[in-house]
Amino acid sequence: MQLKEALQPLDIESLRKDFPILQRMVNGHLITYLDSAATSQKPKQVILALEDYYKRYNANIHRGVYKLSEEATQAYEDAHTKVASLIDASFDEIIFTRNATEGFNLVAYAWGLEHVKEGDNIIVSWMEHHSNLVPWQFVARQNGAVLKHIRITEDGLLDMDHFLSILDERTKIVSITQFSNVLGTINDVKTIGKLSHEKGAVFIVDAAQSVPHFAISVKEIDCDFMAFSGHKMLGPTGIGVLYGKKDILNTMRPFLYGGDMISEVNLDKSSWNEIPWKFEAGTPNIAGGIGLGVAADYLLGVGLDRIFEHTRNITKYALQKLSEIPGVVIYGPKEINLRGGVISFNVKGIHAHDLASILDRFGIAIRAGHHCAMPLMKHLGIQACARASFYLYNTLEDVDKLIEGINEARRIFGYVS
Ligand SMILES: Cc1ncc(COP(=O)(O)O)c(C=O)c1O
Repeated sequence: MQLKEALQPLDIESLRKDFPILQRMVNGHLITYLDSAATSQKPKQVILALEDYYKRYNANIHRGVYKLSEEATQAYEDAHTKVASLIDASFDEIIFTRNATEGFNLVAYAWGLEHVKEGDNIIVSWMEHHSNLVPWQFVARQNGAVLKHIRITEDGLLDMDHFLSILDERTKIVSITQFSNVLGTINDVKTIGKLSHEKGAVFIVDAAQSVPHFAISVKEIDCDFMAFSGHKMLGPTGIGVLYGKKDILNTMRPFLYGGDMISEVNLDKSSWNEIPWKFEAGTPNIAGGIGLGVAADYLLGVGLDRIFEHTRNITKYALQKLSEIPGVVIYGPKEINLRGGVISFNVKGIHAHDLASILDRFGIAIRAGHHCAMPLMKHLGIQACARASFYLYNTLEDVDKLIEGINEARRIFGYVS
C-alpha cells in the first residue's frame, strides 16, 4: 500500500501577509475575522488584479479590435479556463454569473421551467440555503410540481433512507448542498448524484461553501450543474459561477436575452452564441471575472488539500474548546470527519446577536442570525444561532480569542463571576 504523502502545513505567517485587511484594527483590537462562510477576505493578488485592469486595460470585451479590448477579452476568457481547472471542468462549461444564487436561478428558469411538468417532483433538503430552495419553490409552483425535502438526522446528516423513499421516476431535479453553511456537514454528493441519475433526475450541487475549501472534480461527482460564488473563495463580490455539462448547456434555452449571447440577429428572430457566452448576456463583470481567475490561481497555488487540512485542524480545536464552555450548544455532526470549517452554536441565556455584538467589541467578527436557512432554524427549534467559520488565514489563536470573548460575554450576562 502506498502511504499518502504528508501535507506540508501552510506557512500561515507569510500567507496572512497577502491579506491586507488582517492588519485592520477594530474597536482597538487587531481584527479576528471568523465570518468567511459569509464572505472571504481577499488577497492582495486579487485586489491588484482589479486595479491593474482598471488602470491599464479597461475596455469592453468580445467587440473591440484594438489592443485594450483584446487584452481584456483574453484575461476574461483566461479566467474561465482558470476556474475550469479548479473544478476539473472545461472552459466552455464555465458560465460567469453574479453569484451562486444567480446560478440556481439560471437553471430554474432555463432548464426547470421547460422540463419540470405537472405531477413531477423536485428534491432539496432541510439544510439548504434559501438560494437553493426558493428558486425550486418557484418552479414547482409555476409548473404544478411537488417540492420534496430530504430530512436530516439528529446528527445533522442527510437522512439517506428518507431520500431513497422520496426519490422516484417523477423526480426531475435533485439539488443539494455539498457543505452546509450552518451545520458544517459535508454531504456525499457523489452518491446522491448517482442515485438521482438512476431515476433520470438532473443533479445540481450547491458548492458555495465547498469550492473555497476542498479540491473538487465535477467529473468525479458527475453532477449536471454546480453553482458557487466568487466572493467566498477569495474573489471579488458580484461574480459567481455556474458549471453545466456541455451536452445540457448546448441543448438548453438561454436565461437572459440581449447582446453578446447571440450569433445572428434578425428583426424577428435570433440564433444563439456558443457556450458559455450563450449564457452571459450583456457586458459582464469583466474586472470581477479577472479577479476570480486570480483567486482560483491563488487557491490552486496554496493547494486545496492543505487549505482543507488547515481549516479542519482549527475546527477540531474550536469544537473541543467550545464544548468545554458550560451552556454552549453546538449544531451539526459530532464526528469531525463529516464536517468542514463552520461551527454554529448558541450560548445558553445569551442571544446570538448579543454575543456577536460583545465579540465585536474585541474586534472578533462572527455571524449571528438565521444564516439564510430559516427552515433549518425551525427544525432545530431556534430563531437564530451564532456561527464561527474558518479559512486559510485563520489560526488557533483566533479560536482562543473567540473563546475568551464568549467567556467575557458569559461574565457580562452574569453566568460566571
Ligand atoms: C451553502 C450556500 N449556498 C448558497 C449561498 C448563496 O451565495 P450568494 O449569496 O453568494 O449567492 C450561500 C451563501 O451564504 C451558501 O452558504
